[in-house]
Amino acid sequence: MRIILYTGKGGVGKSVISSATALKSSELGFKTLLISTDPAHTLSDAFGIKIGNVETKINENLDAIQIDPVYEAIQNYSALFEFISEIFKTKGIDETIAYEIANFPGSTGAAALLKLVLYVEKNLYDTIILDMIPSGDALKLLYFPYIIGRLSRRVMGIFAPVADVGRAFASVLGINVPSKEVIKTELKLLNLLEKAQKILTDHEQTSLRLIVNPDSFSIENAKRTYIQASIYNINTDMLIINKIMPKDIKAEYFEEWIKLQDNYIKKCEIEFSNLHIKKVSLFKSEVKGIDNLKNLANEIFGEENPLKIYSRFTGININQTEKGIEITVPAPFVKKENLEIERVSDELIIHVETDIGKSSILLPLPFIAYKYSLKSAKLINDKIHIYFE
Ligand SMILES: Nc1ncnc2c1ncn2[C@@H]1O[C@H](COP(=O)(O)OP(=O)(O)O)[C@@H](O)[C@H]1O
Ligand SMILES: [Mg+2]
Repeated sequence: MRIILYTGKGGVGKSVISSATALKSSELGFKTLLISTDPAHTLSDAFGIKIGNVETKINENLDAIQIDPVYEAIQNYSALFEFISEIFKTKGIDETIAYEIANFPGSTGAAALLKLVLYVEKNLYDTIILDMIPSGDALKLLYFPYIIGRLSRRVMGIFAPVADVGRAFASVLGINVPSKEVIKTELKLLNLLEKAQKILTDHEQTSLRLIVNPDSFSIENAKRTYIQASIYNINTDMLIINKIMPKDIKAEYFEEWIKLQDNYIKKCEIEFSNLHIKKVSLFKSEVKGIDNLKNLANEIFGEENPLKIYSRFTGININQTEKGIEITVPAPFVKKENLEIERVSDELIIHVETDIGKSSILLPLPFIAYKYSLKSAKLINDKIHIYFE
């Protein structure tokens, strides 16, 4: 099953481009599901058909569903969310856990991701196109599996053995102990998140596509997402520059705009040179209704199969060396050779300097690395080489 995730700043055209892609894919005969988590109900507007929180048939091969991530989260994971916010109130917890929990409330978007996993498991479609929430939140969604995974391992490590007897000691310990119900939810969630992580990081299955308009805000925003996605080993295969003013507009008033847009397009071509770039013009009017969506799909994809993988990012490599192993991590976004690497039990944390400031890459170590110790690291041609001996 092929999965395509569209993201970008609010208003850039995520909903219409996702809808156009889904429509084109269905016309090529692929059984397609379009999922939107946009609370603004734009799918209904785009297709001119009411689309709610159950699969709605658009054509023979296309279903669409509008999900409300907050509702999903409350329905399925409220016990866990309550427990987590309770722990947050308790003092004396490891600082990193507190930090992760502090980020939790905004991450209800993860419920959308869990829904995706359920659809992948049911396996009723050839492809799922996801119209994601704006990038800021989408980012949380992308790294959520990592955060919750670490959080859970630690919290479970602390609490799991005492879940039954722990309640009696709770006041003595001064910390809350999750109920059995919470642990059950937690395990279910962990399991789903592990699957989500596998799906997101499978480059043959999942691609992230960034949408921008030719303006500085949406481009900066996309750059952030691109860097973060690469850090979390998610393949970004395309950048779409949408709403480009046609050059033949005969109005002096727009001359500056056209020049400005031209400059931003050039900037994109340099900064996103690893990606396949598509340019889409500003239509005469809003993109509404099936005919307009078809026109949009044709402008974007022409005769191409919209489901193909347009660009590939080479993932992490592990090589045996004479003395031990070498792990190579692609990092085209790293600016200086200013690497700091820490090993924390079975994980490696690589601190790097990027265009958007300091960032950390969290890398679960492969088993083979356990018996070696970290020796050195260097940046060579956009790749971080880490040596273990
Ligand atoms: N290429 C385009 N030409 C004209 N209007 C567009 C184009 N792309 C998007 N739009 C319009 O811009 C508005 C925002 O698009 P939408 O897909 O809802 O953005 P998002 O989902 O990113 O918030 C909608 O009214 C849509 O019809
Ligand atoms: Mg939208």
